[in-house]
Amino acid sequence: MSAPTRPIPLIIDTDPGVDDAVAIMLALASPEIELRAVTTVFGNVPQPRTTENAGRLLALCDRSDVPIGRGATRPIVHPQRKRAEAWHGGDGLGGRAEMLPAPAAAPDARGAVGLMAAVLSAASEPVTIAGIGPLTNIALLLAVHPELAPRIGRIIVMGGALGEGNVSGVAEFNIHSDPEAAHRVLTQPAVPVTMVPLDMTLRCPAGPAWIETLASGGRRCGALAEVITHYRAAYLARYGIDAVAVHDAVAVLEAVTPGVLETTPMPIQVACDLGPARGATVAFADDDAPSVLVAVGADVDAVLTEILTRLLRLG
Ligand code: BDR
Ligand code: CA
Repeated sequence: MSAPTRPIPLIIDTDPGVDDAVAIMLALASPEIELRAVTTVFGNVPQPRTTENAGRLLALCDRSDVPIGRGATRPIVHPQRKRAEAWHGGDGLGGRAEMLPAPAAAPDARGAVGLMAAVLSAASEPVTIAGIGPLTNIALLLAVHPELAPRIGRIIVMGGALGEGNVSGVAEFNIHSDPEAAHRVLTQPAVPVTMVPLDMTLRCPAGPAWIETLASGGRRCGALAEVITHYRAAYLARYGIDAVAVHDAVAVLEAVTPGVLETTPMPIQVACDLGPARGATVAFADDDAPSVLVAVGADVDAVLTEILTRLLRLG
């Protein structure tokens, strides 16, 4: 008889965010994962909001025991050029934040980088970090605590675009929000990185049947479906399709079930100039550059079914 596998320790670094909410709840619904911390960053909306939203989501799932570390309020070098209220609502949760329970615990006094460092220092197995917002906190962690890099099993990044971007013709939102931080994370050799770009996540649109099944799945799933309502309307208005991309949940599914996404190694650099290409992720074969694993394919229906089936466990 084989020994039971131990859960994978996970830190989610996030800017909730509607699809971040789906991703956090997916992690909480997955026994393969032990969520050790949620760290917050500016992004879709300002950081005080993303922190409050993370607290509300944990309270909704009766998991306020998971510590929250408050992180960066702005990028490392240049100011963030665009936020994403048009997609996520002014409160980051589609105008429904107040419908979720108030946070039941205060944020951890150590802040995002301190909390991540503490989790890594205490871990007896490699910890996965899922970066589903701008990569500021993770870049700072790598810069301040290089000695902890061997304790990170992998960093999974939702971000980047090999084809068309969603902020500009070439740039994806998370990378565009802090290109210097993204460049630091994607080009460092110490920790393996899997990048889940827009090209992958846009192939997994959750349509009406998916959303309706979620809506009737119980109190928590119903609340999540409510949170998705405004995001769904924004997709319809912008793209003319009644379906939403659950970008961050696709990346977290890769953390939960490693290998669910097909990957190919590519060296990726980030355009950090201030011109129109700022934030582009470019596959660039520099001899010294380490490769990241870029998610390029998956059984898309299976990915969406897997995410939904797990969420429904939350009731
Ligand atoms: C990414 O940008 C944010 O708006 C989403 O939460 C996701 O992390 C998609 O480009
Ligand atoms: Ca996000």
